[in-house]
Amino acid sequence: MNAIQIYGGNCLMGETRIQGSKNAALPILAATLLIDGICEIENCPMISDVSHMLRLMESLGCDITRIEHTIKVDAGRLCMCDMPSDSVGVMRSSIMLLGVLLARTGSVSMQYPGGCVIGQRPIDLHLQALRKMGVVIEEREDGFVAETKGLNGTYIRFPFVSVGATENVVLAAVLAKGNTVIENAAMEPEIYTLCDFLKEAGAEIEGAGTDRIIIHGVERLHEISYRIPADRIVAGTYLAACLCSGGEIFLKEAPCTQMTAVIEAAAGMGAEIHESTEGIQIACRNRRKMLQELKTDSYPGFPTDLQSAFLVAMTLAEGSGSLEETIFENRFRIVPELKKMGAGITCKGNMLFVEGQKKLKGAALTAKELRGGAALVLAGSAAEGMSIVKNRQYIERGYENICQDLATLGVECKIIN
Ligand code: UD1
Repeated sequence: MNAIQIYGGNCLMGETRIQGSKNAALPILAATLLIDGICEIENCPMISDVSHMLRLMESLGCDITRIEHTIKVDAGRLCMCDMPSDSVGVMRSSIMLLGVLLARTGSVSMQYPGGCVIGQRPIDLHLQALRKMGVVIEEREDGFVAETKGLNGTYIRFPFVSVGATENVVLAAVLAKGNTVIENAAMEPEIYTLCDFLKEAGAEIEGAGTDRIIIHGVERLHEISYRIPADRIVAGTYLAACLCSGGEIFLKEAPCTQMTAVIEAAAGMGAEIHESTEGIQIACRNRRKMLQELKTDSYPGFPTDLQSAFLVAMTLAEGSGSLEETIFENRFRIVPELKKMGAGITCKGNMLFVEGQKKLKGAALTAKELRGGAALVLAGSAAEGMSIVKNRQYIERGYENICQDLATLGVECKIIN
């Protein structure tokens, strides 16, 4: 059945450790293709998006060994530059390989990438920026061929913020000739982490983590060992689980310095939060207060990846409020599922209006995408009675073991195959 079964209604208690970050691991794995020698990546999350990326890298000729959370990549024998369409079709992050393959081989042919059905997610910014760096791109209906005689540093100002396009340009620029300046760069912590990884390997980058990144191209990058930091979105999901179900939990290694907007929103709902270098402690004793207006935004704003989880918390809060999605146009796909549980939500364009209810009731639910799927598991954990969340495979793209983590925190849930 490929589902998660939950008997809801328990308050949460206890502690769980936060896994390594998906959105940091994927571009870093792509970056290993630029490196002379063997790279060792530690704390890499065991999720299906990482498995897809590794398969894709293997099919391009990389030697990969994986022992649990440690992955060794030797890209010395990289030989292919045609990306297999079955892998590219399922995972949007395969676009991350475009810049690195152009740097390594000068030629790439690929299908347009897939991923969650949360919006159109075009790649025009990636392609425009790479064209400016000296890449000739011929677009077809289902994909494109990109070729370069050598990448050149240039000035790029993005018309709006894109995490993936910023990462792709950084990856293409580190071994390019001359300097690249990126303005209106995304400031997400995962970009800082990618630049940190590249700098340890010998790249010259200034301004990582700001909206202006300068990359001075170097001749080569050398092998390193690197540890993937904890996943701020997984930490935020479990923090929201506590908002939904109540209780007191500790999220070990949660990266609180990257979670300011999320912690502010949770505190606004009445949670007591203690941040430390070891993690985050959250206590929710009384019924949560409604957030009047929650709006997603690029970092350091409230992350779109936690919009669904906080929506579930809002459906159970006292009062009425609104939620605005500003990044993806199709990220309200859990609303009909939550309505089956008795949630009071009205949708108008990119806005949701929420009337908080005292309780939700268990239901048979279907995950349609990664973060929405995880949010349905939170809804099931807080609801009365039994819920089933089908399409577990979407959730496993980004959560190593959501069932085990929530069970550790006191939720009665199990996997059904
Ligand atoms: C990344 C994250 C994802 C997160 C998102 C926004 C990874 C692996 N994924 O996705 O979890 O939800 O950032 O924080 O890190 N856009 C264009 N043209 C482009 C590129 C983007 O129009 O060429 C649009 C997208 O459709 C979207 C917006 O820009 O509406 C932001 O997308 P972007 O920041 O690029 O998201 P991803 O990198 O795909």
